[in-house]
Amino acid sequence: MSKLLLIDDEADLRYSFQRILDSPEIELTTAASGEEGLRLIPKLKPDLVIMDIRLAGITGLETLRRVRQIDPKLLVILMTAYGTTQTAIEAMKLGAYDYLLKPFDVPKLKELIATALKAAHDMTQVVSYQPLLEEEDYEQGIVGRSEPMQQVFKLIGQLAATDATALISGESGTGKELVARAIYHHSNRNQQPFLAVNCAAIPEQLLESELFGHERGAFTGAATQRIGKFEQCNHGTLFLDEIGDMTPATQTKVLRVLQSGTFERVGGNQPISADVRIIAATNRALEQAVAARQFREDLFYRLNVVRIHLPPLRERRDDIRLLVNYFLQAFAKEQERAPKSIAPGVIRALEKYHWPGNVRELENIIRRALVVAKGDAILLGDLPAEITGQGAAGSLPVPGAGAGERAVEDVVRLARQLFAWARRDPKLKIIPAVERELVIQALKEANGNQVHAAKLLGITRATLRKRIEKFQIERELSIK
Ligand SMILES: Nc1ncnc2c1ncn2[C@@H]1O[C@H](COP(=O)(O)OP(=O)(O)OP(=O)(O)O)[C@@H](O)[C@H]1O
Ligand SMILES: [Mg+2]
Repeated sequence: MSKLLLIDDEADLRYSFQRILDSPEIELTTAASGEEGLRLIPKLKPDLVIMDIRLAGITGLETLRRVRQIDPKLLVILMTAYGTTQTAIEAMKLGAYDYLLKPFDVPKLKELIATALKAAHDMTQVVSYQPLLEEEDYEQGIVGRSEPMQQVFKLIGQLAATDATALISGESGTGKELVARAIYHHSNRNQQPFLAVNCAAIPEQLLESELFGHERGAFTGAATQRIGKFEQCNHGTLFLDEIGDMTPATQTKVLRVLQSGTFERVGGNQPISADVRIIAATNRALEQAVAARQFREDLFYRLNVVRIHLPPLRERRDDIRLLVNYFLQAFAKEQERAPKSIAPGVIRALEKYHWPGNVRELENIIRRALVVAKGDAILLGDLPAEITGQGAAGSLPVPGAGAGERAVEDVVRLARQLFAWARRDPKLKIIPAVERELVIQALKEANGNQVHAAKLLGITRATLRKRIEKFQIERELSIK
């Protein structure tokens, strides 16, 4: 049986609640003011409090504030007749579980109470936050106890004492930059600069000048001389991120610096020497790029002196619990709050998921869950549907408020998965692949009716026919 406390100064409303909630599973107690409610809570220990924001005597928001002092875990639903976003925001900021607009409809009220009571029950199952690691365990912000991560840590340590070039590989979001910084941090160059260049983010004409600098007038637009990263970074460490995206011309120049320690600025002819330690990273399989003659073999061997491979998160699921714990602590620190706890089912769900975006995705999911979690614990419902397995591939978002935005969010996530796939498989053409699937799904949804399918897709029937032909979909769906 669940205990519910209603705080409202209107006798009529207290009476109607008694009628509406008359059931053997619910024991309803009422209070006519905030003060009375606050007095009752310690003895009664309700599972849920419902109260009006407008109360005679102390206000609802003030009552809520004091309720949270008495019991931060207690769930509170506020009722308000004035649906201003301001009160709603205030209420949610103070940690209300939800709020209801008056006059409310009874089924909605019942449903909200049922979900709140379920959440209250789930909350009691939650283990409160326990740090799993000592502060010094993740001084460098790299968390992991799994066997492959232990190997990574060892290599970082070994590399740190040398000036050797290192190549870090791994899927997107596995922590390559973090590892590069850790190597630097432990090296004896740690008092010298660490600079990072993302070779994929800079247009190829500009990358050379970014790395090596240019002389005034070297090309149109080069109005002044520019000092490049190699020069700026003398005696330091240069992190060449996404090195697989470097053009052959730039590769040649980088190779030369590695071999002879000299280069020229673009448009210049005076050799400049630089003592720079290179750490490179890539999420492409460089060996394949070498085989396909897109990447210089000699440069590859020069970079690949020590290789650190970061395994995808799905291959080190043991680390998930630890990472979650770490992020909870880190975000709590960031926001100067006590860390939220986490329901055991949440960890289990996270451990089952396949993490196409790796640790970065996990970090984002925890960040998001902290924002949407209403109480001081993260529950299963605070995770996106593709992790909890509800609404996974095939099922559509439930129509209703925000369904459109959520669908777009899903597309964003899907896009990331597709990009990861495209990186592994250079033959994959994302847009045609997605388009083909959309056409098939629309036809299925419309039971093969092309007029309806075209409408769903927002294209004309003629265009749809062309797509069906182009993608040879007839055979697949055996449609005429
Ligand atoms: N082992 C780890 N412990 C703690 N945080 C991690 C770990 N690995 C990655 N992260 C975090 O995940 C995010 C992504 O890491 P990072 O930027 O190093 O990945 P990356 O491999 O360089 O990804 P990309 O290929 O997309 O550039 C960062 O916020 C980083 O702090
Ligand atoms: Mg990176």
